[in-house]
Amino acid sequence: MARKFFVGGNWKMNGDFASVDGIVAFLNQSADNSNVDVVVAPPAPYLAYAKANLKAGVLVAAQNCYKTAKGAFTGEISPAMIKDLGLEWVILGHSERRHVFGESDALIAEKTIHALESGIKVIFCIGEKLEEREAGHTKDVNFRQLQAIVDKGVSWENIVIAYEPVWAIGTGKTASPEQAQEVHEWIRAFLKEKVSPAVADATRIIYGGSVTADNAAELGKKPDIDGFLVGGASLKPDFVKIIYARS
Ligand code: PGA
Repeated sequence: MARKFFVGGNWKMNGDFASVDGIVAFLNQSADNSNVDVVVAPPAPYLAYAKANLKAGVLVAAQNCYKTAKGAFTGEISPAMIKDLGLEWVILGHSERRHVFGESDALIAEKTIHALESGIKVIFCIGEKLEEREAGHTKDVNFRQLQAIVDKGVSWENIVIAYEPVWAIGTGKTASPEQAQEVHEWIRAFLKEKVSPAVADATRIIYGGSVTADNAAELGKKPDIDGFLVGGASLKPDFVKIIYARS
């Protein structure tokens, strides 16, 4: 079956009102592309502003959320709040959450299930570190990270999986199309075995890690690469070329 191309822009902890205005302007000027889901993730203080100013075809995601609806969790935001802002998506399990902030597979799985149950769709990120790849553990690490949500019995129609090798994020060292395709194929086979052939066929698996306007087209030709999660390059007008990489 045809999986709709999905391009996410993860702004991370970057931006101010002036730069958000600039990004909104180039996104709003870009011709509508009904063949691609475009979802950008501003920092939490700019979510409402971005949503209010972006055209309808560009959706807005939060970069993270907690595992309960409300309470004494200073500094956190909840899926209920994301929904209240009129947004549909959240990024969970990003490598910076895992490795800078020490989030475990178990916590990320709890957050994922709570977001889904709250009606928020999840860009679920996985990926191995360089030393794990070099030790031959790429498959094990990615499968372990996925297994944490398989064990929770999540509903897969509202999940996009982002394979983001940690060694490729923000480093300029993009995975080659072959390296990315190999892991995407493993992930799809994993879903087929552990969940179902239908879910394996329908779930979008996007690649992230130093995606640019120059390398997106080649990556996007691979049969199991269904889009991108873009960090640094999503802050620049060239992001629009990535949106059109497969059009
Ligand atoms: P990058 O980040 O494109 O800057 O490598 C990707 C990501 O972290 O999602």
